[in-house]
Amino acid sequence: MRQKIAAANWKMNLTYQQAEKLLEELIATPHELKENHLAIFAVPFPYLQLANSKLGGKKNVFVAAQNCYSKKSGAYTGEVSVEMLTSMNIQYVILGHSERREYFNESNQLLADKINICLENNIRPIFCCGEPLNIREANTQNDFVGKQLQESLYHLSAEQLQQIVIAYEPIWAIGTGKTASSEQAQEMHAFIRQQLAAKYGNDVAENISILYGGSVKGSNAAELFSQKDVDGGLVGGASLNAGEFVTIINSLK
Ligand code: PGA
Repeated sequence: MRQKIAAANWKMNLTYQQAEKLLEELIATPHELKENHLAIFAVPFPYLQLANSKLGGKKNVFVAAQNCYSKKSGAYTGEVSVEMLTSMNIQYVILGHSERREYFNESNQLLADKINICLENNIRPIFCCGEPLNIREANTQNDFVGKQLQESLYHLSAEQLQQIVIAYEPIWAIGTGKTASSEQAQEMHAFIRQQLAAKYGNDVAENISILYGGSVKGSNAAELFSQKDVDGGLVGGASLNAGEFVTIINSLK
């Protein structure tokens, strides 16, 4: 069954003390996770252990990293390996966020390498894709996103692909307060699923969770998640507020 996912992306926010407070508020706020619902918290590396200690063992709740390196280990000062993450029981990692692509020059090929090392180590990537504003204005977003999928994912086997969560995040909607309309989100999610179906078959494509990201908040989550191919959200700003994020979790269909 396709999983419905509310994923928090804290990005480079909060002090340790603020992170601890937010985790405590999250635990204290009633939320409902059905059998196929997951809540994932992608926190900064220094807070992984803290988040694990607060959230670990809770049903359908996972702690995630926001990045990892493409090499197994060695002389890569400042980087974090997949082996380090698995040794801390981390099971998900965000890869290919547009901020990593833009500020750290992450290419589709590098992301393919990162995806490979994650899958070899049983870590599930939350693979982000999405177009900038000029591409949307030129109405070539399908080609743009199609190429991102092709260059980073299409070398995978069907079995491997099913370990991937996809997050469609139009760059013009990230942190701007400008959400894609639910129709725009549905249209792109359906396109992504069709592309996956063409390559891997319908059954595989139907099982992949495709999240929407870009100014998701408590007030628009239910409408976005009501769309047939929108299986939840990857949430930045609104995930820093316990009440907002729990409303988003409770909006999963
Ligand atoms: P936002 O960020 O919710 O603040 O727009 C989403 C994301 O970048 O994952």
